[in-house]
Amino acid sequence: MKKAVCLFFLCLLLSSCQAITLKKLGYTKEEISVISSLDKDGQALFTESYRDDLVALLDNPDFDNTKFNDYLSLIPQFTCADSIYIINNSLQDSCDLDKLAELFNHELFIRNKLEDYLHFINDFSVKDLLFMVNGNLLNYQNKDKLLAIMEDKYYINDNLALYLDYYDNFTKSRNLVEYVNTLRYLPDYSTDYITDTSKGNLMIVNKYYALPDGYVPDNLVSVPEEYGNPGMKLTEECFEAYKQMYNAALNDGMDLYINSSYRSYNTQVNTYNNFLTKDSQEVVDTYSARPSHSEHQTGLAIDILSPGYDFGTIYYADEVDWLAENAWKYGFILRYPDGKMDITGYKFEPWHYRYVGDLAEDIYNSGLTYDEYYAYYLK
Ligand code: DAL
Ligand code: ZN
Repeated sequence: MKKAVCLFFLCLLLSSCQAITLKKLGYTKEEISVISSLDKDGQALFTESYRDDLVALLDNPDFDNTKFNDYLSLIPQFTCADSIYIINNSLQDSCDLDKLAELFNHELFIRNKLEDYLHFINDFSVKDLLFMVNGNLLNYQNKDKLLAIMEDKYYINDNLALYLDYYDNFTKSRNLVEYVNTLRYLPDYSTDYITDTSKGNLMIVNKYYALPDGYVPDNLVSVPEEYGNPGMKLTEECFEAYKQMYNAALNDGMDLYINSSYRSYNTQVNTYNNFLTKDSQEVVDTYSARPSHSEHQTGLAIDILSPGYDFGTIYYADEVDWLAENAWKYGFILRYPDGKMDITGYKFEPWHYRYVGDLAEDIYNSGLTYDEYYAYYLK
């Protein structure tokens, strides 16, 4: 009995010593009382110096002294408040802590959307999650839709809102992604996009990208008549590449012939208008570009025939097969492939080759039209 009384007084003495130490360090009465309810290891943390971070923990209304060491284990990866939130809600059991840290510490993180982030956190990357939740693009109904779109190889994050807009028009995500990426939701010849000519050999021109007014390539050279029709012009680099291709083809017994090359804006006006005297505009638009929308105005496109063939018969020439297999080696791509009219806007043109330079091999191997390739890799 005597021993027990002594022990009681000893404890009282020790705790009042500790209280004095803590008071000296600057802890308030309330904080000292919370500190004394912690286990020994926890209490020890407070004895060296005054610590803002620990005080922030104690002062949080949701602080639970039985979880003190769990909170500590999350600091400094998380703020005190976030550590308390995570531990009190056992988030560490259902989410990856590094992912949570990335989310909580991201500059785009909006605290009052936390519940939404957490609901979807295991389905999306933090970047996608922030983008979608912040933009109110994600909800319980469309989660599966979004996951299906994101799995597409050519999914582009910036297009997410557009994919959702047009989602119901497609049964396959592949077709939807391709549709949005290649701007086909825009009206043809819309003026929303102007070709970025600073991309040089890689510039894109199609029904959605118009060349800037008055665009004329600055490095055109005349093509000698031995290569094709008189008066042909190409950019210097394109012509140099063409000569190599021409010689390689010749070696393989092929005879290439340039039927059309650079066409100025005015020439394209005449070309297009001339077709309009024969076909309806709807039909002409499937095979001839409107002025400002033709690759021929870039000096990088060539219509390649072979002597004895015309646009109606060239499909049967060996040269067409040779070009399809070999043109990429010289920097050229088939611009309007068979069966891709919904993407390129034009019927199959086995004669129309576009110079792009070194990327031709990659474009060829991708199996994509240039419109798709540009959208995904070059825009
Ligand atoms: N035939 C192609 C599409 C053009 O006119 O440029
Ligand atoms: Zn052409």
